[in-house]
Amino acid sequence: MWRRLIRVARSAGAAAAVRSLARQHGQGQSSRKGYYYGFGFGVLSLSGADTDLGRGVLGVFFPQTLPWKPSTTSPFKWGELEAGLEERQRRAGELEDFMARAAIAYRNILNLASKRGEGKEDEALKRVQTELDEDLEGFRILIQQEQNKIIYGVEAVEGARQKYLDEYGCAKWTDEALAELAGLSPVVEMGAGGGQWAAQLKDRGCDILAYDNAKAIAPGGNGPTAAHVQEGDVAVLAEHGSRALFLCYPPPADESVGCMSAQCLQHYKGDTLVYVGEGKGGANASWVFFDLVEKEWECTKVVALDPFPQCYEHFYVFKRR
Ligand SMILES: C[S@@+](CC[C@H](N)C(=O)[O-])C[C@H]1O[C@@H](n2cnc3c(N)ncnc32)[C@H](O)[C@@H]1O
Repeated sequence: MWRRLIRVARSAGAAAAVRSLARQHGQGQSSRKGYYYGFGFGVLSLSGADTDLGRGVLGVFFPQTLPWKPSTTSPFKWGELEAGLEERQRRAGELEDFMARAAIAYRNILNLASKRGEGKEDEALKRVQTELDEDLEGFRILIQQEQNKIIYGVEAVEGARQKYLDEYGCAKWTDEALAELAGLSPVVEMGAGGGQWAAQLKDRGCDILAYDNAKAIAPGGNGPTAAHVQEGDVAVLAEHGSRALFLCYPPPADESVGCMSAQCLQHYKGDTLVYVGEGKGGANASWVFFDLVEKEWECTKVVALDPFPQCYEHFYVFKRR
């Protein structure tokens, strides 16, 4: 059924429905974390029965693009990034359009299941429920594949993005980057997420303390509950001025909590900063952070990384001026 519905959805043209879907079901992830774009499947009861007939959550990482602010001599600005950010904006529009059509398909699935369940009880109702669960699972997978195709431009290799996140976290390391960072030991990492980089660094003999405030769902890995990631907020950096500060793919500024990476710089009193992420206007940090770094820190090394398609992270080392 869902294949037919997807076809229906593809040919339909409504806009903004996905937002209302996310609001209705209250499971969208975009509110606190500006860099998640998603919506949730809610709960459906048939014909007054109390049974929940379908539940699932669909969320997808989508780097947010901030307004471009040109600067002349910045390590955080380069041609490929600029072109990539324009392309990202185009893809964001395409994704929004697709999600609006997906929202219609989703409603169709629920409406049809609701009709099928009318007047049915017990075993017959259970069968309708099972069918609906299967439909929603198929729908979820298809939507995820289409989203990946739109966002990352890759023919959706099943789970490719998730595999990448599980293995590396948000940004893939290279041997050169890890060696460079391990050479700056001891290190303190803030916003370590699933702790994938920290684990690699430990294996290379690096003395690293990794912290995360555990308020977000970590991308991949074991989450911030990984044994080597301690719960801690930016303020703990005040105690670790003797270590190099490592920020890997810090979140973009959020109107409710501000800019995490800039806050790190306010608390950290040491003299070495390692930043892994996109440059100005990209998915990470904020203009406040980039301006602060350019003013108070000198870039001593940039290492090219091997980002996922449509992503533009670099590895930077800075020394306090
Ligand atoms: C985009 S994720 C990156 C995680 C990891 N570094 C990676 O590359 O996979 C940003 C991380 O920063 C953490 N974070 C955000 N604000 C924080 C804060 N104020 N203090 C500590 N961690 C924070 C989040 O919990 C999340 O795990």
